[in-house]
Amino acid sequence: MSAEPQYKTAFACAPLVYVNGEYLPAQDAKISIFDRGFLLADGVYEVTAVLHGQLIDYAPHIARLKRSLKELGMDMPCSEDELQAIHRHLIEKNGIDEGLIYLQVTRGSENGRNFPFPQDAKPSLVLFAQSVELSEDPKADTGVALASVPDIRWERRDIKSVALLAQVLAKQEAKSRGAFEAVMTQDGYVTEGGSSSLGFVKPDGGIVLRPLSNAILPSITRQAITKLAEQTGVPIEERLFTLDEMMNAAEVFMASATALVMPVVMIDDQRIGGGQPGPVVRKLRALYFEMADQQAREQSDAWS
Ligand code: PDD
Repeated sequence: MSAEPQYKTAFACAPLVYVNGEYLPAQDAKISIFDRGFLLADGVYEVTAVLHGQLIDYAPHIARLKRSLKELGMDMPCSEDELQAIHRHLIEKNGIDEGLIYLQVTRGSENGRNFPFPQDAKPSLVLFAQSVELSEDPKADTGVALASVPDIRWERRDIKSVALLAQVLAKQEAKSRGAFEAVMTQDGYVTEGGSSSLGFVKPDGGIVLRPLSNAILPSITRQAITKLAEQTGVPIEERLFTLDEMMNAAEVFMASATALVMPVVMIDDQRIGGGQPGPVVRKLRALYFEMADQQAREQSDAWS
């Protein structure tokens, strides 16, 4: 896979960030060394796409955040109105037209390191923004490559935990093999991408996705794609599938807030669908942007 393009995977943070009640220049933002996110990965996160200066699928992202917090016995760090105002402030002050907002909530800190929950720690809340070209992403024209790795994560992958070491290793392995993303497998079946949901298109044009469970993250982009597929008469089948089946599919795609709907044209050393993005995935990507454009228009009307 040495002839594959080098993918751009590093993006710089926008100058103004939010940390525990304050907006600060990124270089001045600080968190305690006792923060349980830092010491114990005791926290959760969300990544929301921004298009046309508006948050895409914000409500489902916040619903998933609340669920992740609940599963870990944590409270929302502030009101939902405040949280939305912080997102909007970062978009406006950083002049983000297209990009991402990263949000992290941890269980806070106490004076030291203890495993059980602290009595009265205040959750820690951090948000920052990144400008990223999402709609004109050249990878969408060429498609991307995946590299298969074993899924070595814990058993609660439905929680969007900041404990991402297994994914760091998976994605580094993928990168070292010239691929953009890892495809993780367990017990002979594909789970998901290192930081994305995966699906494929059958010869009859239907889409296959792994059923939601504790084994994978309930992807918000996948949820949007599922709705778009249903609206346009594309059948969705939810079942376990093997790497081999995906490698022999007509088309393969990954879905995430950072890649949105992205065609996959290579897995390990095997080309998918002749090595070119196929019509079903291209169509889904176009439909996704139509949906996002519409959402952005509605939000900008609501906020003006
Ligand atoms: N990751 N599966 C995993 C393991 C993920 O980390 C992600 C997202 C997804 C896709 O979820 P969504 O469509 O809601 O973005 C699936 C984010 C983008 C990240 O860690 O950067």
